[in-house]
Amino acid sequence: MNLPSKVKLVDVGPRDGLQNEKAPVPAAVKIELVHRLQSAGLKEIEVTSFVSPKWVPQMADAADVMKGLERQSGVRYSVLTPNMKGFEAALTSKPDEIVVFAAASEAFSQRNINCSIAESIERFAPVVAAAKAAGIYTRGAISCAVGCPYEGDVAPAQVELVAKLMKSIGVEHIGVADTIGVGTPLKVQRAMDAALKHYDLDDVSGHFHDTYGQALGNTLISLQMGVWQFDTSIAGLGGCPYAKGATGNVATEDVVYMLHGMGIETGIDMDKLVDAGQFISEFLGRKPNSNAATALSNKRLN
Ligand code: HMG
Ligand code: MG
Repeated sequence: MNLPSKVKLVDVGPRDGLQNEKAPVPAAVKIELVHRLQSAGLKEIEVTSFVSPKWVPQMADAADVMKGLERQSGVRYSVLTPNMKGFEAALTSKPDEIVVFAAASEAFSQRNINCSIAESIERFAPVVAAAKAAGIYTRGAISCAVGCPYEGDVAPAQVELVAKLMKSIGVEHIGVADTIGVGTPLKVQRAMDAALKHYDLDDVSGHFHDTYGQALGNTLISLQMGVWQFDTSIAGLGGCPYAKGATGNVATEDVVYMLHGMGIETGIDMDKLVDAGQFISEFLGRKPNSNAATALSNKRLN
């Protein structure tokens, strides 16, 4: 086994977690969530998306949320930018990192960003070049890396192709995303292997939605491959508006519990993390979608 001794988690709750919420979440609540995550020890937070407000109304306040942040040194703030319009809008917010997002399935690419995979890469190329010129780190997400809501199983060769295309335009890091949470460990391992044909281990992360309860297993097999960076979502919030029925990313609390239990450092304070999850869950009027958070909150009551 090749387990890393440290893991970096990117909390995508404020973005992936909240983007699908129907009722508007005020910018002040999003900002407070980011503040709570950074005070819990998260070193990177995916804050928001500069996408079309017609497509994703919940992210329409992207600039306000970025503007309202009290940044903590040592914390990176990332945002999604699907095209130059999004990048230009994001630039004034001074993100540390931008995320371009492609899909390993054509049907999902069309539904999510209204273009083919090849067209998406053409759109991303100037975004990546402009980000580099501005000194902003670039990450790419590969959606539907194991399964697609419209096409079913996705072959590792598709992941390899998108990884290669991302590399060719200069994207520095890629996330292998199981958008709809259908992946199981060996399928995820194959998708990771495909991505690793074009990117180093240090430049690949896992982004696992937990729809079928497989995300911890998928995280574990990735750790065993040496992958040490993962996107997780506070309180298990979320889902993609263009992947109906898919639930949130694996809860940050659950992954932290597993990692700390394995003796792997994250730099995260579990108590403060649980508080952050309770804060946003109370605002949304539901319980955290995390076994670890539920268990730890119950323990506090006893
Ligand atoms: P489009 O309609 O093809 O774009 O959308 P267009 O260039 O033809 O422009 C149409 C209109 O949108 C114009 O406005 C543009 O100005 C405007 P109009 O003239 O009609 O008033 N527009 C924009 N407005 C604000 N910000 C922008 C922007 N671009 C154009 N950046 C587009 C293309 C990509 C914009 C659209 O499809 C879109 O916004 N899609 C949203 C996709 C999204 O946010 N999905 C969820 C995030 S991805 C995800 O969750 C997966 C991930 O978690 C990994 C995983 O789990 O798989 C990352
Ligand atoms: Mg996602």
